[in-house]
Amino acid sequence: MTRKLIVDTDPGQDDAVAILLALASPAELDVAAIITVAGNVPLALTRVNARKVLELAGRTDIPVYAGCDRPMRRQSVTAEHVHGKTGLDGPDLPEPSMPLQPQHGVDFLIDALRAAAPGTYTLCTLGPLTNIGMALIKAPDIASRIREIVMMGGAYFEVGNITPAAEFNIYVDPEAADVVLRSGIPITMLPLDVTHRALATPARLHAIGALGNQAGRAIAAMLNFSERFDLAKYGWDGAPLHDPNVIAYLLQPDIYEGRQVNVSVELASDLTLGMTVVDYWRITDRPKNVHYIRNVNADAFYGLLTTRIPRLP
Ligand code: BDR
Ligand code: CA
Repeated sequence: MTRKLIVDTDPGQDDAVAILLALASPAELDVAAIITVAGNVPLALTRVNARKVLELAGRTDIPVYAGCDRPMRRQSVTAEHVHGKTGLDGPDLPEPSMPLQPQHGVDFLIDALRAAAPGTYTLCTLGPLTNIGMALIKAPDIASRIREIVMMGGAYFEVGNITPAAEFNIYVDPEAADVVLRSGIPITMLPLDVTHRALATPARLHAIGALGNQAGRAIAAMLNFSERFDLAKYGWDGAPLHDPNVIAYLLQPDIYEGRQVNVSVELASDLTLGMTVVDYWRITDRPKNVHYIRNVNADAFYGLLTTRIPRLP
């Protein structure tokens, strides 16, 4: 049966690829709405970028809402050094003409969850968790109505990317992440431990760019741009590809490996703020709140991208 998704995102080139992969898989996934959040770049840009991606895919029927423009308790942290000034640097995508929905993204999320039968929606979160944390504080009753949250965020064995200890999405709004992790909602986490194994090597990017459609060409242009920072940083064969793992996990969970463990987030220390402390070896009796994914079959992941993306314009 088709899973109904609400995607919360801060596009971001890798967010864009995740959205495109979901749109290329309508038999399995139905993207009901997109909510944007401040993250890779400010909200004023993420709410534009989400619509650019939908127009690229010819899906102007999917509503886009703007959520929170800053974290719950902290100043914004952005990542233009990776994603460029627009957040979607690389291809030359036109300014969107589809409208932004007038309702605030947090209010939309609450209304949509309350209006649907419990278990209807899976939330895919590809950015900081501000909108979800705010919605849970404003309307705690929605927790039991969410089927599952599948998120890109966190790290344990690969530690951090925005600080030595913390992954970007959790670091930007650790208080929101804490609310989500304590919510009791079933959570699957795709952390850096996974995404650092899904490297966009030159051969893989070439294959996507050669698919022959505009989405494939745009993805190759986006990732060629966003790779340059990580290639210099890590010195690997390719840069990690993060957010599309959320969608690939929903499409083909058997190419991922993980286990049910406790994940807690550090909120107090300046040195390790936003670190996800993962009880991978089950040392404590803290509640097992997360299906924590540690590994992916990278060839199968890229195989999924190259078979699905040609279905788009
Ligand atoms: C995450 O941070 C963002 O820069 C990416 O879009 C991804 O969601 C990786 O740490
Ligand atoms: Ca993202």
